[in-house]
Amino acid sequence: MMRFSLAFLALAAHGVNAMLRFSCSELVIDRLDPLVTPGENPSPHLHQIVGGNAFNITMDPSLDLPSLATCTSCTFSEDLSNYWTAVLYFRARDGTLTRVPQMGNQFLEQATGGMTVYYIQPYDGTQVTAFQPSFRMLVGDPMKRTFDDSLESRQLSFRCFEENFGGEAGAPGTGQDTRELPNRPCPGGIRSNIFFPTCWDGVNVDSPDHKSHVAFPTSGSFETGGPCPASHPIKIPQLFYETVWDTREFNDQSQWPEDGSQPFVFSMGDPTGYGQHGDYVFGWKGDALQRAMDANCNVVCPQIQSQDTSVANQCTIPRRVDEAIDEGELQDTSFLKVAYC
Ligand SMILES: *[C@@H]1O[C@H](CO)[C@@H](O)[C@H](O)[C@H]1NC(C)=O
Repeated sequence: MMRFSLAFLALAAHGVNAMLRFSCSELVIDRLDPLVTPGENPSPHLHQIVGGNAFNITMDPSLDLPSLATCTSCTFSEDLSNYWTAVLYFRARDGTLTRVPQMGNQFLEQATGGMTVYYIQPYDGTQVTAFQPSFRMLVGDPMKRTFDDSLESRQLSFRCFEENFGGEAGAPGTGQDTRELPNRPCPGGIRSNIFFPTCWDGVNVDSPDHKSHVAFPTSGSFETGGPCPASHPIKIPQLFYETVWDTREFNDQSQWPEDGSQPFVFSMGDPTGYGQHGDYVFGWKGDALQRAMDANCNVVCPQIQSQDTSVANQCTIPRRVDEAIDEGELQDTSFLKVAYC
Protein backbone atom coordinates (compact mmCIF):
# COMPACT_ATOMS: atom_id res chain seq x y z
CA MET A 1 0.00 0.00 0.00
CA MET A 2 1.55 3.18 -1.18
CA ARG A 3 0.71 5.43 1.77
CA PHE A 4 2.23 2.88 4.10
CA SER A 5 5.47 2.25 2.27
CA LEU A 6 6.16 5.94 1.66
CA ALA A 7 5.51 6.78 5.28
CA PHE A 8 7.58 3.82 6.36
CA LEU A 9 10.57 5.02 4.36
CA ALA A 10 10.18 8.61 5.52
CA LEU A 11 10.05 7.54 9.14
CA ALA A 12 12.86 5.08 8.83
CA ALA A 13 14.89 8.08 7.75
CA HIS A 14 13.84 10.02 10.84
CA GLY A 15 14.09 7.01 13.10
CA VAL A 16 10.81 7.67 14.90
CA ASN A 17 8.54 4.91 13.67
CA ALA A 18 7.14 2.66 16.36
CA MET A 19 5.56 -0.64 15.45
CA LEU A 20 5.66 -4.35 15.99
CA ARG A 21 6.12 -6.30 12.75
CA PHE A 22 6.36 -10.06 13.13
CA SER A 23 5.60 -13.32 11.43
CA CYS A 24 2.86 -15.69 12.53
CA SER A 25 3.32 -19.05 10.83
CA GLU A 26 0.48 -21.25 9.66
CA LEU A 27 -1.48 -22.66 12.63
CA VAL A 28 -4.11 -24.40 10.49
CA ILE A 29 -6.15 -23.95 7.31
CA ASP A 30 -9.72 -24.90 8.11
CA ARG A 31 -13.34 -24.00 7.30
CA LEU A 32 -14.05 -22.44 10.70
CA ASP A 33 -14.93 -18.92 11.86
CA PRO A 34 -15.44 -18.66 15.63
CA LEU A 35 -16.00 -14.89 15.37
CA VAL A 36 -18.70 -14.62 12.68
CA THR A 37 -20.23 -18.12 12.84
CA PRO A 38 -19.28 -19.56 16.24
CA GLY A 39 -20.20 -23.21 16.63
CA GLU A 40 -20.68 -23.73 12.89
CA ASN A 41 -18.69 -26.67 11.65
CA PRO A 42 -18.09 -26.12 8.82
CA SER A 43 -18.33 -22.34 8.50
CA PRO A 44 -19.31 -20.77 5.14
CA HIS A 45 -15.78 -20.58 3.71
CA LEU A 46 -12.21 -21.66 4.26
CA HIS A 47 -9.73 -19.58 6.31
CA GLN A 48 -6.03 -19.56 7.04
CA ILE A 49 -5.51 -19.09 10.77
CA VAL A 50 -2.42 -18.11 12.76
CA GLY A 51 -1.64 -17.50 16.43
CA GLY A 52 -2.34 -19.44 19.63
CA ASN A 53 -3.39 -23.08 19.63
CA ALA A 54 -6.57 -22.40 21.64
CA PHE A 55 -8.28 -21.55 18.33
CA ASN A 56 -11.54 -23.46 18.29
CA ILE A 57 -14.91 -23.93 16.57
CA THR A 58 -16.44 -21.80 19.31
CA MET A 59 -14.41 -19.19 21.21
CA ASP A 60 -16.54 -17.73 23.94
CA PRO A 61 -15.44 -14.17 24.84
CA SER A 62 -14.96 -15.30 28.45
CA LEU A 63 -12.18 -17.72 27.43
CA ASP A 64 -8.75 -16.69 28.68
CA LEU A 65 -6.63 -17.50 25.63
CA PRO A 66 -3.24 -16.94 27.33
CA SER A 67 -4.07 -19.61 29.91
CA LEU A 68 -5.71 -22.03 27.44
CA ALA A 69 -3.12 -21.92 24.65
CA THR A 70 0.11 -23.85 25.12
CA CYS A 71 1.90 -22.44 22.06
CA THR A 72 1.67 -19.71 19.44
CA SER A 73 2.76 -19.65 15.82
CA CYS A 74 3.71 -15.97 16.24
CA THR A 75 7.16 -14.56 17.02
CA PHE A 76 6.14 -12.94 20.30
CA SER A 77 5.45 -15.81 22.64
CA GLU A 78 3.18 -13.69 24.87
CA ASP A 79 0.81 -13.30 21.92
CA LEU A 80 -1.81 -16.08 22.03
CA SER A 81 -4.24 -14.11 19.84
CA ASN A 82 -5.79 -15.53 16.68
CA TYR A 83 -5.69 -13.83 13.31
CA TRP A 84 -7.31 -15.13 10.14
CA THR A 85 -8.15 -14.34 6.51
CA ALA A 86 -9.69 -16.08 3.50
CA VAL A 87 -7.62 -18.44 1.33
CA LEU A 88 -6.63 -17.92 -2.31
CA TYR A 89 -7.16 -20.40 -5.18
CA PHE A 90 -5.92 -20.56 -8.75
CA ARG A 91 -8.60 -21.49 -11.29
CA ALA A 92 -6.96 -22.87 -14.42
CA ARG A 93 -8.42 -22.54 -17.89
CA ASP A 94 -9.84 -26.08 -17.64
CA GLY A 95 -11.69 -25.20 -14.43
CA THR A 96 -9.36 -27.02 -12.06
CA LEU A 97 -8.77 -25.31 -8.74
CA THR A 98 -5.48 -25.40 -6.87
CA ARG A 99 -4.88 -23.79 -3.49
CA VAL A 100 -2.24 -21.06 -3.64
CA PRO A 101 0.37 -21.63 -0.94
CA GLN A 102 1.62 -18.80 1.24
CA MET A 103 5.22 -17.90 1.84
CA GLY A 104 7.22 -16.04 4.43
CA ASN A 105 7.24 -12.27 3.94
CA GLN A 106 10.23 -10.05 3.28
CA PHE A 107 12.82 -10.36 6.11
CA LEU A 108 10.60 -13.02 7.67
CA GLU A 109 11.24 -15.71 5.08
CA GLN A 110 11.75 -18.53 7.62
CA ALA A 111 8.06 -18.55 8.58
CA THR A 112 5.93 -21.35 7.16
CA GLY A 113 3.21 -19.45 5.33
CA GLY A 114 0.80 -17.73 7.66
CA MET A 115 0.96 -13.96 7.67
CA THR A 116 2.82 -10.92 8.93
CA VAL A 117 1.12 -9.00 11.72
CA TYR A 118 1.77 -5.36 12.54
CA TYR A 119 0.72 -3.24 15.51
CA ILE A 120 1.48 0.29 14.34
CA GLN A 121 1.57 3.48 16.41
CA PRO A 122 0.87 7.01 15.14
CA TYR A 123 3.94 8.73 13.74
CA ASP A 124 3.35 11.83 15.88
CA GLY A 125 4.14 9.83 19.03
CA THR A 126 0.55 9.76 20.36
CA GLN A 127 0.20 6.88 22.79
CA VAL A 128 -2.30 4.13 22.04
CA THR A 129 -4.38 1.98 24.37
CA ALA A 130 -3.84 -1.75 23.81
CA PHE A 131 -6.84 -4.01 23.17
CA GLN A 132 -8.57 -5.38 26.28
CA PRO A 133 -9.15 -9.06 27.10
CA SER A 134 -12.05 -10.54 25.03
CA PHE A 135 -11.62 -7.84 22.37
CA ARG A 136 -12.32 -8.96 18.81
CA MET A 137 -13.10 -7.31 15.50
CA LEU A 138 -13.58 -7.84 11.79
CA VAL A 139 -12.64 -5.67 8.82
CA GLY A 140 -13.87 -6.18 5.28
CA ASP A 141 -16.96 -7.88 3.89
CA PRO A 142 -16.74 -11.32 2.27
CA MET A 143 -19.84 -10.54 0.15
CA LYS A 144 -18.36 -7.45 -1.50
CA ARG A 145 -17.56 -7.66 -5.22
CA THR A 146 -17.22 -3.94 -6.12
CA PHE A 147 -15.11 -1.05 -4.82
CA ASP A 148 -17.35 1.45 -3.01
CA ASP A 149 -14.64 3.88 -1.81
CA SER A 150 -15.82 3.57 1.81
CA LEU A 151 -13.26 4.10 4.58
CA GLU A 152 -13.31 0.37 5.12
CA SER A 153 -12.75 -0.48 1.44
CA ARG A 154 -9.76 1.84 1.41
CA GLN A 155 -8.06 -0.33 4.04
CA LEU A 156 -7.80 -3.28 1.67
CA SER A 157 -5.36 -3.70 -1.21
CA PHE A 158 -2.95 -5.99 -3.03
CA ARG A 159 0.66 -5.63 -4.08
CA CYS A 160 1.93 -7.30 -7.25
CA PHE A 161 5.54 -8.11 -6.34
CA GLU A 162 7.89 -7.37 -9.21
CA GLU A 163 10.75 -9.51 -7.95
CA ASN A 164 11.39 -12.45 -5.72
CA PHE A 165 12.79 -11.45 -2.35
CA GLY A 166 16.52 -11.26 -2.80
CA GLY A 167 16.08 -11.18 -6.58
CA GLU A 168 18.81 -9.83 -8.81
CA ALA A 169 16.90 -6.90 -10.27
CA GLY A 170 14.60 -4.44 -8.52
CA ALA A 171 14.10 -3.87 -4.83
CA PRO A 172 12.51 -6.79 -3.01
CA GLY A 173 8.98 -6.19 -1.81
CA THR A 174 8.25 -3.52 -4.40
CA GLY A 175 5.41 -3.48 -6.88
CA GLN A 176 2.20 -1.83 -7.85
CA ASP A 177 -0.72 -1.64 -5.41
CA THR A 178 -4.30 -2.19 -6.54
CA ARG A 179 -7.67 -2.39 -4.81
CA GLU A 180 -8.54 -5.56 -6.72
CA LEU A 181 -6.54 -8.68 -7.44
CA PRO A 182 -3.78 -7.83 -9.96
CA ASN A 183 -4.80 -8.47 -13.58
CA ARG A 184 -1.36 -9.66 -14.71
CA PRO A 185 1.20 -12.23 -13.57
CA CYS A 186 3.21 -11.03 -10.55
CA PRO A 187 6.80 -12.32 -10.81
CA GLY A 188 7.33 -12.34 -7.02
CA GLY A 189 3.83 -13.30 -5.82
CA ILE A 190 0.86 -11.28 -4.55
CA ARG A 191 0.67 -9.70 -1.12
CA SER A 192 -2.73 -9.00 0.51
CA ASN A 193 -2.84 -5.90 2.73
CA ILE A 194 -5.54 -5.54 5.40
CA PHE A 195 -5.66 -2.55 7.81
CA PHE A 196 -8.06 -2.52 10.77
CA PRO A 197 -9.92 0.44 12.35
CA THR A 198 -7.94 2.45 14.91
CA CYS A 199 -10.57 4.08 17.14
CA TRP A 200 -12.51 2.25 19.88
CA ASP A 201 -15.65 3.20 21.80
CA GLY A 202 -13.83 2.41 25.04
CA VAL A 203 -16.71 0.27 26.32
CA ASN A 204 -17.53 -2.73 24.14
CA VAL A 205 -15.00 -5.46 23.39
CA ASP A 206 -17.22 -6.68 20.53
CA SER A 207 -20.46 -5.75 18.74
CA PRO A 208 -23.08 -7.75 16.82
CA ASP A 209 -21.44 -6.97 13.45
CA HIS A 210 -17.96 -7.14 15.06
CA LYS A 211 -17.34 -3.66 13.60
CA SER A 212 -19.54 -1.03 15.31
CA HIS A 213 -17.40 -0.81 18.46
CA VAL A 214 -14.49 0.46 16.35
CA ALA A 215 -14.18 3.27 13.80
CA PHE A 216 -11.77 5.10 11.52
CA PRO A 217 -10.34 8.61 12.12
CA THR A 218 -12.69 11.43 11.11
CA SER A 219 -10.01 13.08 8.98
CA GLY A 220 -6.48 12.41 7.86
CA SER A 221 -5.07 9.03 8.71
CA PHE A 222 -4.12 7.12 11.80
CA GLU A 223 -0.43 7.31 10.96
CA THR A 224 -0.42 11.10 10.80
CA GLY A 225 -2.50 11.53 13.96
CA GLY A 226 -5.97 11.93 12.45
CA PRO A 227 -8.55 12.42 15.25
CA CYS A 228 -10.96 9.72 16.41
CA PRO A 229 -14.72 10.45 16.35
CA ALA A 230 -16.32 11.45 19.68
CA SER A 231 -18.29 8.20 19.62
CA HIS A 232 -15.04 6.17 19.47
CA PRO A 233 -12.51 8.36 21.29
CA ILE A 234 -9.86 5.80 22.26
CA LYS A 235 -6.88 5.31 19.93
CA ILE A 236 -5.95 1.66 19.59
CA PRO A 237 -2.89 0.29 17.79
CA GLN A 238 -3.32 -0.04 14.03
CA LEU A 239 -3.53 -3.75 13.41
CA PHE A 240 -2.35 -4.66 9.91
CA TYR A 241 -2.10 -8.07 8.17
CA GLU A 242 0.08 -8.90 5.21
CA THR A 243 -0.26 -12.30 3.55
CA VAL A 244 2.10 -13.27 0.74
CA TRP A 245 0.50 -15.65 -1.74
CA ASP A 246 3.08 -17.62 -3.68
CA THR A 247 1.47 -17.33 -7.10
CA ARG A 248 4.77 -17.85 -8.94
CA GLU A 249 3.89 -21.36 -10.11
CA PHE A 250 0.65 -20.04 -11.66
CA ASN A 251 2.13 -17.36 -13.90
CA ASP A 252 1.84 -19.31 -17.18
CA GLN A 253 -0.75 -17.24 -19.02
CA SER A 254 -1.60 -20.10 -21.37
CA GLN A 255 -3.44 -21.48 -18.29
CA TRP A 256 -5.25 -18.19 -17.59
CA PRO A 257 -8.84 -17.47 -18.74
CA GLU A 258 -9.12 -16.86 -22.46
CA ASP A 259 -11.07 -13.64 -21.90
CA GLY A 260 -7.98 -12.03 -20.34
CA SER A 261 -9.33 -11.91 -16.79
CA GLN A 262 -7.12 -12.87 -13.84
CA PRO A 263 -7.35 -16.47 -12.58
CA PHE A 264 -7.34 -16.17 -8.78
CA VAL A 265 -10.41 -16.57 -6.58
CA PHE A 266 -10.78 -16.25 -2.82
CA SER A 267 -12.36 -19.02 -0.78
CA MET A 268 -15.65 -17.08 -0.42
CA GLY A 269 -16.01 -17.36 -4.19
CA ASP A 270 -14.59 -13.89 -4.82
CA PRO A 271 -12.66 -13.37 -8.06
CA THR A 272 -12.38 -9.59 -7.55
CA GLY A 273 -10.49 -9.31 -4.24
CA TYR A 274 -12.92 -6.66 -2.94
CA GLY A 275 -14.27 -9.26 -0.51
CA GLN A 276 -11.01 -9.82 1.31
CA HIS A 277 -11.40 -9.55 5.08
CA GLY A 278 -9.51 -10.07 8.30
CA ASP A 279 -10.63 -11.39 11.69
CA TYR A 280 -8.98 -10.72 15.04
CA VAL A 281 -9.42 -12.26 18.47
CA PHE A 282 -7.14 -10.58 21.02
CA GLY A 283 -5.17 -12.88 23.29
CA TRP A 284 -1.98 -11.22 24.55
CA LYS A 285 -0.79 -12.17 28.02
CA GLY A 286 -1.40 -9.58 30.74
CA ASP A 287 -0.14 -6.15 29.76
CA ALA A 288 2.44 -7.42 27.23
CA LEU A 289 0.97 -5.54 24.26
CA GLN A 290 0.61 -2.31 26.24
CA ARG A 291 4.22 -2.67 27.41
CA ALA A 292 5.38 -3.05 23.82
CA MET A 293 3.38 0.02 22.76
CA ASP A 294 4.60 2.13 25.70
CA ALA A 295 8.20 1.18 24.91
CA ASN A 296 7.77 2.51 21.34
CA CYS A 297 9.44 -0.63 20.03
CA ASN A 298 10.43 -0.64 16.39
CA VAL A 299 10.17 -4.23 15.13
CA VAL A 300 12.66 -5.50 17.71
CA CYS A 301 11.09 -5.44 21.17
CA PRO A 302 13.13 -6.74 24.09
CA GLN A 303 10.37 -5.60 26.49
CA ILE A 304 8.26 -8.62 25.50
CA GLN A 305 9.20 -12.28 25.16
CA SER A 306 9.87 -13.74 21.77
CA GLN A 307 10.70 -17.16 20.36
CA ASP A 308 12.68 -18.36 17.37
CA THR A 309 10.72 -18.74 14.13
CA SER A 310 11.68 -22.43 14.07
CA VAL A 311 9.75 -22.84 17.35
CA ALA A 312 6.79 -20.79 16.11
CA ASN A 313 6.68 -22.98 12.98
CA GLN A 314 6.03 -26.03 15.18
CA CYS A 315 2.82 -24.65 16.68
CA THR A 316 0.06 -26.19 14.56
CA ILE A 317 -3.32 -27.80 15.24
CA PRO A 318 -5.18 -30.51 13.30
CA ARG A 319 -7.94 -29.57 10.88
CA ARG A 320 -11.44 -30.21 12.27
CA VAL A 321 -13.34 -30.18 8.97
CA ASP A 322 -12.71 -33.34 6.96
CA GLU A 323 -12.62 -32.21 3.32
CA ALA A 324 -10.15 -31.82 0.47
CA ILE A 325 -8.88 -28.26 0.31
CA ASP A 326 -5.84 -28.33 -1.95
CA GLU A 327 -7.29 -29.01 -5.37
CA GLY A 328 -10.46 -30.05 -7.09
CA GLU A 329 -13.01 -29.42 -9.78
CA LEU A 330 -14.95 -26.20 -9.61
CA GLN A 331 -18.29 -28.07 -9.84
CA ASP A 332 -17.87 -29.99 -6.60
CA THR A 333 -15.65 -28.02 -4.32
CA SER A 334 -17.63 -27.69 -1.15
CA PHE A 335 -14.78 -25.68 0.38
CA LEU A 336 -15.33 -22.94 -2.17
CA LYS A 337 -18.68 -21.94 -0.80
CA VAL A 338 -19.98 -19.10 -2.86
CA ALA A 339 -21.71 -16.75 -0.47
CA TYR A 340 -23.33 -14.18 -2.76
CA CYS A 341 -26.10 -12.20 -1.16
C1 LIG B 1 -12.41 -26.73 21.90
O1 LIG B 1 -13.71 -26.70 22.42
C2 LIG B 1 -14.14 -27.94 22.94
C3 LIG B 1 -15.62 -27.79 23.28
O2 LIG B 1 -15.82 -26.71 24.15
C4 LIG B 1 -13.28 -28.32 24.12
O3 LIG B 1 -13.66 -29.58 24.62
C5 LIG B 1 -11.83 -28.38 23.66
O4 LIG B 1 -10.98 -28.63 24.76
C6 LIG B 1 -11.42 -27.08 23.01
N1 LIG B 1 -10.08 -27.19 22.45
C7 LIG B 1 -9.12 -26.31 22.70
C8 LIG B 1 -7.82 -26.55 22.03
O5 LIG B 1 -9.27 -25.35 23.43
